[in-house]
Amino acid sequence: MSYLFYQGRGRKPVLDEARGVYMWDTDGKRYLDGSSGAMVCNIGHSNEKVLTAMREQMEKATFGYRLHFETEASEKLAAKTVEKMPEGLSKVFFVSGGSEAVESAMKLARQYAIATGQDRRWKVIARSPSYHGCTLGALAVTGYDPLTRPFAPMMREMPKVPAPRAYLDGLDPGDPATGRHYADMLAETIEREGPDSVLAFVLEPVGGASTGALVPPAGYMQAVREICDRHGILLIMDEVMTGAGRTGAFLGCEHWGTRPDLVVLSKGFAAGYAPLGGIVAPDWMVDPVLDAGGFAHGFTYAGNPLACAAGLAVIEEIERQGMIANAARMGEVLKTRLEDLMQRYAIIGDVRGKGLLTAFEFVSDRRTMAPLPASLGACNRFVDIAYDNGLIVYSRRTRGGYEGDHILVCPPMIVNENQIEEIVDMLDISLRQFTNEIHTAVPQSA
Ligand SMILES: Cc1ncc(COP(=O)(O)O)c(C=O)c1O
Repeated sequence: MSYLFYQGRGRKPVLDEARGVYMWDTDGKRYLDGSSGAMVCNIGHSNEKVLTAMREQMEKATFGYRLHFETEASEKLAAKTVEKMPEGLSKVFFVSGGSEAVESAMKLARQYAIATGQDRRWKVIARSPSYHGCTLGALAVTGYDPLTRPFAPMMREMPKVPAPRAYLDGLDPGDPATGRHYADMLAETIEREGPDSVLAFVLEPVGGASTGALVPPAGYMQAVREICDRHGILLIMDEVMTGAGRTGAFLGCEHWGTRPDLVVLSKGFAAGYAPLGGIVAPDWMVDPVLDAGGFAHGFTYAGNPLACAAGLAVIEEIERQGMIANAARMGEVLKTRLEDLMQRYAIIGDVRGKGLLTAFEFVSDRRTMAPLPASLGACNRFVDIAYDNGLIVYSRRTRGGYEGDHILVCPPMIVNENQIEEIVDMLDISLRQFTNEIHTAVPQSA
């Protein structure tokens, strides 16, 4: 009997201990955290340096309300965060999670528009599929029907453009014409909506759970930047999942040299050691808002000193252990090993990702990319099989949220080659079990 409820009635084992890439339940069973929780615990569990920094902060103060005090922890983390940003992004606003951060970015953008005489701009265009959070504002820019539909009457849904899923549309992701094709859809949507009414475009530089690590095609990011510039539209980079190193660069958008106007951070920012998120904005956006009377927005726990002390120690550990380079290197190893599995399992139709944000997608026919029948419930069933085998992975459905099961394999950035082998072995066993169960896949010879 539990007094808690989350998504459903299912119960899970009780967590006892977590260290590095491993976790143990109270029965002593060991799990390899192959998804870093929900792509959160990027530096691994129970990092001593982070725990020490948190203990030290705890001994001094665990809470100071932002309207009463500044804190050394939040000042230091803000300075460190700015150091990691592309030039010009120089002001940080802290929150406690990704949805709060997305809301904050959209509201800052809106207040900037008002403060600069652009009151007519309020629409935030987003992509579908996408995920930007579960609060009503963040859901309005989320393209994931099962999560948005129940709440549609309660929110003002924002315009969507298709995410650039070249692998499903039979287009070459390496051809700049492909990137242009998807960016043109953004340009058309802006024209249709009325360019003067569009405030911002929000995107995940590498897709997260809704697309399963979708990497943009050649030329896409550059074209998107150009289109936004042409119409005076702000480009909000939702780096909640990609930020803090997971893709092999501090920000995902760095891979394409794309300049964001606003960066949204959470998840790996404090790596699960404390609830933390933030937005980073340029002076030219923040100053007019402050001059006009201030940002009419904020959360009670913003800039919490304990969370900020954790966040600072996390970034310092990422730097000290060279974790971003490791994420890039191990990501290549993992992707190659997943491609090996694809050779052996016909139900894997695509392997994709960047750094340690990596996924594979199940299909019933690789030639047509037809999905597995939704009735198989593959996205949940495969995760359960892997879990029983001691491997934690993460899944969702990328085709409208109702089919197109994909599995995210995103271990912490401290993972080594032996542990990648361990992950791949457990995936192999789980894939064998799963294909036997569904009787559809015809294993090919390696
Ligand atoms: C890209 C992206 N944005 C926003 C969020 C929302 O973050 P949170 O669950 O911390 O509210 C998520 C969570 O998965 C995410 O992946």
